[in-house]
Amino acid sequence: MIIIVDFGSQTAHLISRRVRELGQTVMVVEPEDAIARIKELNPQGIIFSGGPASVYGKDSPIIDTQVLELGIPILGICYGQQLISHLLKAKVKPGDKKEYGPATLQVIARPRSGKAILERTGIASEGAPRNDVGLFDNTAEEFTVWMSHGDEVKSPPEKFKILATTKTIPVAAMGNEKEKIYGIQFHPEVIHTQFGEQILSNFLEICGVVPIKQELDPVFVEGLIDDIRESLGQEKVISALSGGVDSSVASLLVHKAIGENLTSIYIDSGLMREGETDILRDVFKENYDMKIEVVDAKDEFLKALDGVTEPEAKRMAIGRTFIEVLERESKKYKANFLVQGTIYPDVIESKGSKHSEKIKSHHNVGGLPEDMNLTLVEPLRTFYKDEVRKIGSILGIPDAIIKRQPFPGPGLAVRIVGPVTEENLKILRKADKIVRDEIENYGIELWQAFAVFTGIKTTGVRGDQRVYGETIAIRAIEATDAMSADFAKLPWGLLQVMSNRIVTEVPEVNRVVYDISTKPPATMEWE
Ligand code: XMP
Repeated sequence: MIIIVDFGSQTAHLISRRVRELGQTVMVVEPEDAIARIKELNPQGIIFSGGPASVYGKDSPIIDTQVLELGIPILGICYGQQLISHLLKAKVKPGDKKEYGPATLQVIARPRSGKAILERTGIASEGAPRNDVGLFDNTAEEFTVWMSHGDEVKSPPEKFKILATTKTIPVAAMGNEKEKIYGIQFHPEVIHTQFGEQILSNFLEICGVVPIKQELDPVFVEGLIDDIRESLGQEKVISALSGGVDSSVASLLVHKAIGENLTSIYIDSGLMREGETDILRDVFKENYDMKIEVVDAKDEFLKALDGVTEPEAKRMAIGRTFIEVLERESKKYKANFLVQGTIYPDVIESKGSKHSEKIKSHHNVGGLPEDMNLTLVEPLRTFYKDEVRKIGSILGIPDAIIKRQPFPGPGLAVRIVGPVTEENLKILRKADKIVRDEIENYGIELWQAFAVFTGIKTTGVRGDQRVYGETIAIRAIEATDAMSADFAKLPWGLLQVMSNRIVTEVPEVNRVVYDISTKPPATMEWE
């Protein structure tokens, strides 16, 4: 077992997933309970997660120094590295430059002999663990890592060597090989860090376990369905089906488990993309013989959003309205349970762990009023999007649904900066359709590509006349889970076609811009 101490990282669960994927049992614990749990469970390794705090902060989460003396290998990630340094009286300081996103890591010391590197390449799948493992075995000399930090370690603690640097931080990785305690400033768990899995795999070998790559398979999915069947019995259940990947997979899992006892409710909020309702009807009613109820609630949502411009307030207003409509509908079906397609990033970004910061209130998390008398069923609550897609394809859901781009619960409202009106929605819907169609025509597969109504009016000229029109931003993202993302390097020609089409076919718009931000520090959606 590997214990992960969660200091409030957005990615603590992602670290746990990566370690699970390497065949190990994982337990995520809070720093306050960590020592007791470590003593009780005697893990083979400990990982300190990152976190938003500063080790010098007044209420920063901390752990007793004795953890460093237990003889159990430790890997500190980001805040975890800073905490190890702080506990060992080394200097941690606000960095001259805060770093968010990609950086080039230079490995300067491979702590073990080069021989070990040649012995085996890739990730171990069988055999005994190697004795002689370095944290950077089987990585390149120089590679891209993802950073997200303000503070940094100025110089490593006594008996620690610097293992890697970047242009801006001297101690990007450090280690005390004898004690098997390591710290890295970057995030190996996010997919954009090259060799991230290799580094975690190396750490597991340092812990004396053999990493074995695991896959989601049909037996696992059958087990999920059995669990749902067992827990729901003969209950009447409703699901909130949005037509997106998550709610589709969640609803189908429950449909497979309890059949007729599930009614899926699709609430047409008026905040959906062009053509959404039709696709849903076609696929689910016809292919799966599921009971689906389409509820037209457009006016209710627009009313709830009237005059609301602050992003969190919008999310709350939408969440509330969803719940109100669902509550009303659920009464018709005498249901006691509600299925939601909540996935793990929704949970963590809505403040899922004790020390993590709230980034956004995902509308489908924790919004049920106490007196609603509906118990949530969230079969995908511990999974990431790519895992949900895998489960969906094991269930036989066609690619047309599985490969659909994620669409946020609050819909186009969080892609409109400023007031959500029928007019703004109409403009955005048209521009968005153009972006998606052109990406599809070009044949590029992306995590998401969409248009954003920026709410910025600028001066333009049309037919020799001054116009004062809207600005549309194009957001196109590469990612494999929702925790980190890079903007897609779309060909100029494609951007040009989109831009021309938008300003021609949507006359209210006279300017189109391309969003070139990574996550972090930006999020994928604008609100
Ligand atoms: P952010 O903007 O947080 O988005 O970087 C990460 C991914 O999550 C989607 N998203 C949501 N999904 N309910 C959802 O089900 C929500 O409230 C929500 N907000 C964002 C977003 O589209 C992206 O893929």
